[in-house]
Amino acid sequence: MGEIKDALKKAELIAFANHKGGTGKTTSCISIAGFLAKEGYKVLVVDFDPQANATSGLGIDAMTLKHSIYDAILNKCNSSRGVPVIDVILETDFENMHLAPSESDLSAAEVIMQNTKNSTDILANILRNIRPFYNYILIDLPTSSGLLTINGLCALDHLVVPVDPSIYSLESLDNLKMTLTDIRKMTGHVFNKITVILIRFNKPKMFSKLSGRLSPSQEIEARLKERFQTVFTIPESIEIYKSQKEGIPLSHYAPDSDAGKAYKRITNKIIKEGGGSKRKEVERM
Ligand SMILES: Nc1ncnc2c1ncn2[C@@H]1O[C@H](COP(=O)(O)OP(=O)(O)OP(=O)(O)O)[C@@H](O)[C@H]1O
Ligand SMILES: [Mg+2]
Repeated sequence: MGEIKDALKKAELIAFANHKGGTGKTTSCISIAGFLAKEGYKVLVVDFDPQANATSGLGIDAMTLKHSIYDAILNKCNSSRGVPVIDVILETDFENMHLAPSESDLSAAEVIMQNTKNSTDILANILRNIRPFYNYILIDLPTSSGLLTINGLCALDHLVVPVDPSIYSLESLDNLKMTLTDIRKMTGHVFNKITVILIRFNKPKMFSKLSGRLSPSQEIEARLKERFQTVFTIPESIEIYKSQKEGIPLSHYAPDSDAGKAYKRITNKIIKEGGGSKRKEVERM
């Protein structure tokens, strides 16, 4: 009984990771967060990348912040500085969507984290007390294999790996896999739920179609499908550039664009499979 109650109260934690840069982690994170919020779920986006792209992507200027997720880390690492995460979280212009923003100082966090006990569970501990207030917590991780990323991987229920259609991308998946294996050995954390999103997917040109040859995007898709059960594609889209210029997630800027519809399909799958998060009622803050 206790277990069921606990499960109903906990937000599902979804982290977006890839050791390679520019693979669509931030775009996927804020687009899916936006669609979940539009469905009436209470969503928290945690920007765990010093680049603060999820922060600006949700229309918030990192230069104007009073506090950021860096302060919540300082607070958890027994520093005399910092504030609890509850004081870091901001409302956004988008209904049902909150943000724990980031700023460039976050790049200094790994040094502090290294010297803290249970250094791989700091993010999980930061989020523990606020999980009852949300249905979903989405974490945008940086392009690195450092402690920020490891903390995200140790906290998650569901790993989303955005991939760009390049050969180097396939190589980067080997590095991610090694990190996952190391974490499993070190902490016992098992990665049951992995979703891969292939971005900038291009359909084959007419000539390739006629000759029956696969486009590079299709070739990468086929290779990914050999390795992962769930592979989605997002078409190349100018709307993504435009939405990021405006600081509005694609879910709210161009939900009916091809890329918007593709992200909506992924969101529907997340909702359908969403363990304890099916109920929209959450605790009030
Ligand atoms: N489907 C798409 N079509 C066209 N451009 C896209 C698509 N998805 C993402 N992009 C663009 O690709 C770039 C990288 O995307 P994004 O910033 O989301 O990747 P990232 O993995 O978070 O990068 P970083 O490693 O810097 O954190 C951005 O300029 C974004 O606008
Ligand atoms: Mg990013």
